[in-house]
Parts: sequence; C-alpha cells; structure tokens
Amino acid sequence: MELYDTIGRGYGQRRQEDPRIAAHIFGALESCSSVVNVGAGAGSYEPHDRKLVAVEPSRVMIRQRDPGAAPAVRASATHLPFRDETFDASLAVLTIHHWPDLERGLQELSRATRKKVVILTFDPAVTGFWLTDYFPEIPEIDRRIMPSLSELRQHLGRISVFDVPIPHDCTDGFLGAYWRRPKAYLSAETRAAISAFSMLHDVEHGLDALRRDLASGEWHNRYGELLERSTLDLGYRLIVSKRG
Ligand SMILES: C[S@@+](CC[C@H](N)C(=O)[O-])C[C@H]1O[C@@H](n2cnc3c(N)ncnc32)[C@H](O)[C@@H]1O
Repeated sequence: MELYDTIGRGYGQRRQEDPRIAAHIFGALESCSSVVNVGAGAGSYEPHDRKLVAVEPSRVMIRQRDPGAAPAVRASATHLPFRDETFDASLAVLTIHHWPDLERGLQELSRATRKKVVILTFDPAVTGFWLTDYFPEIPEIDRRIMPSLSELRQHLGRISVFDVPIPHDCTDGFLGAYWRRPKAYLSAETRAAISAFSMLHDVEHGLDALRRDLASGEWHNRYGELLERSTLDLGYRLIVSKRG
C-alpha cells in the first residue's frame, strides 16, 4: 500500500499550488516544451501551456487530480514507462524523499529527459526552523530521508541550486508553510497533509508545548520577530541538472 493512499486523503484541499513557488519552478522549465512530472500527486506545479504527463503511484492522489489536469500514469519513479529522452524536462516536486531507491529514481529522471531535471526538495543541512524546537524528531527524520546536496551531486553530476524562500501566506500546506502562522500546526487537518507528522513517534508532547507557549506569549517572546518578515528561507531548494 502506498503511503499516500493512507495519508493523501484531503491532500488536494490543503496542498494548493503556491504561485510564488510555481514561478521558481516554471522559470526553470522555461525552454522545455514537454515535461514529465514524477510524484505528481494531485497536480500542483504542472504548467498547462505545454505537453505534460504525470507519474504517480498512489491511486488516492491520482483521484484528486482535476478532471482537466494532464493525464496521469500510475507508476513509480524507479520504473518510468517511457523511452529514453522522451521529454525535454523531468520535474519532481517535494517527492524524492519518498522514493524507495533514490539513485534509481534519479537515473530514471535523467534517462527520460533530453534537456533538464528539475527538483524541488529540502536541504537537510539547513536547520533552525522554530517548529523543530517543539518536534526535535523532525530534523532527525529529515537527515535520514532527505538527500543531501552532495548525494544529489553524486547521482546527477553538476547541479545548480536555488533558494526557494517560503512566503508567509504560502498556499501549499507543506511542513514549512505555516512558519508565520504557528496556530495552524495545532490543527489535525493541517498536520494530516504533512507527511513528516505521520512519521513522528510522539506528536502530543510537542503540540501541548506549542499550545502552552502560544497561550502564555512565550512563542511570541521567542520567535515574534518573524512576524515582521514576509518570506523565510527554511531550506527549500530548487535543483536544476542540465543533461548532455
Ligand atoms: C508531498 S507529495 C508531493 C506531490 C506533488 N508533487 C505536489 O507538489 O503537490 C509526495 C508525492 O510523492 C509520491 N510518491 C511516493 N513514492 C513515490 C515513488 N516511488 N515514485 C513516484 N512518486 C512517489 C506520493 O504518492 C505523493 O504523491
């Protein structure tokens, strides 16, 4: 059973494409007229003005795609059902840490691609997000499942790495999206669309502490200066690997 067949229900509502993040991704895909979006989920960050095929292993996620969305093939990144160099670009957004064999998946992205591999991921070397003071297990999980930039270089060769700062009102509800809206993490619905929470052994302890600190003003004493900021670099990175 795919993880996202379990945790992916309701994903389409909480995880809406954020236009500012989309601008980074679409900029990287600019010269590419055909794209395969691997780990495509419900269809966020898919440009509509060119040929696009989605690849997604979870039926629950595929069902949440809009009726007008690009066609989706049910498959894993590790076995892409396409000939070599079928697409100008392959795209993978917030998905590579879920793949059972990263090296094989990245080889497949490269193989299916003529021009570029474009990946949005999180660099586990970046620490310091306040949420991890409440859930210290999160960076431990990140270090375990999120590939480092050197691991990506090892598999993809030369890569360009671009910071993707997260807007304070980010519409895509991933882990870092609510950095300026701390109360959001108290909502079970919000947490249900964030895979990291499904991997924690103890959520309640951190939630109690966050609830207490928000009520007492301690959260504002510690992190209140963030409320002045409009974007924050939390470690999300756009990786571009040019083929050939
Ligand atoms: C956090 S979601 C991201 C979905 C979409 N890219 C987005 O940005 O909204 C991670 C996705 O990776 C998919 N995934 C998990 N294992 C995969 C695999 N082996 N190959 C391809 N995708 C996979 C999940 O089913 C899920 O849809």
